Amino acid sequence: MPAATSVRAVTPPRQAPDRNLAMELVRVTEAAAIAASQWMGRGDKDGADGAAVDAMRHVLQTVAMDGVVVIGEGEKDAAPMLYNGERIGDGTPPEVDIAVDPIDGTRPTALGRGGALCVIALAERGSMFDPGPCVYMDKIAVGPGAAGKVSLELSPLENLREVARATGTALRELTVVVLDRPRHDELIDQIRRAGARIRLIADGDVAGAISTAVPDSGADVLMGTGGTPEGVLAAAALKAMGGEILGRLSPRSDAERAAAEAAGYDLDATLSTDDLVRGDNCFFAATGITDGDLVRGVHYGGDAVTTRSLVMRSRTGTVRFVEAHHRIAKLRQFRLVDDEM
Ligand code: FBP
Repeated sequence: MPAATSVRAVTPPRQAPDRNLAMELVRVTEAAAIAASQWMGRGDKDGADGAAVDAMRHVLQTVAMDGVVVIGEGEKDAAPMLYNGERIGDGTPPEVDIAVDPIDGTRPTALGRGGALCVIALAERGSMFDPGPCVYMDKIAVGPGAAGKVSLELSPLENLREVARATGTALRELTVVVLDRPRHDELIDQIRRAGARIRLIADGDVAGAISTAVPDSGADVLMGTGGTPEGVLAAAALKAMGGEILGRLSPRSDAERAAAEAAGYDLDATLSTDDLVRGDNCFFAATGITDGDLVRGVHYGGDAVTTRSLVMRSRTGTVRFVEAHHRIAKLRQFRLVDDEM
């Protein structure tokens, strides 16, 4: 008699996102940046955002992954595409979380000002912080030299003393990046009284946070209140760069506070870089839409379009600057640029 064959249910090993995804993500941000760049200076924020979202989703659908949008354009009813919870990718493993900001800097894009980026981050399923109803958070971000030394419990002066000590830079030579907003008047005053220098940015605190970890960028610390989604995206980048971002949720109103508390968010807690993106296998890609300090924007010339991107993966910590030259005729085939171009 033949021996009985035993049949066991075998759970396939969970497939981790591998390094090839990095290039796929750059394709996504390049496509979105090219689409958005055609709206540069046209005074139409929604038009630019819609074009970036369309292009981003179009390319994301082709990526071999089973993705869930954790940070997207918002709730489904208001955002027909890339809404929070949307499944994205071709549905095959690995299972991943996706955070997108099709344009970080819709206003500068519409006004033709610098510093707008198209941004995406990817991490293993369940590892990204879901901001829920919390639009803003208080943030502090630093590069590798001062990682582990700053705290949201300290005053700006105390944090700056820590950064100065850790990096061996005189406090008066430190540069703090701050979003130019009336809510930061008191913070700006405190930084000035501490003796540090300030780089006021009109928009774009993802780039602001990342710049603290870029050698010779001229930025040492980012402080202030900005978007929670942007905080999660910056965390993915700073993980790869060895920097740090800390966040504390900052409700805009009593209703938002109540909604956040009802959903179980601890509004007093400091969220570490690891709380914002857990684990050590996340990816980040960004492509410039308009020229900025971090990367240049999309440039057109003859029959080609040039894009500059930044791509990184936390596991290896490699940061790549990618310059790509795209043929307009080919892009037209894939409907990534208008026929009139
Ligand atoms: P969007 O372009 O996505 O609107 O974000 C731009 C931005 O400057 C972010 O970088 C920043 O986190 C946020 O807006 C700050 O919000 P607000 O403009 O409401 O102060």
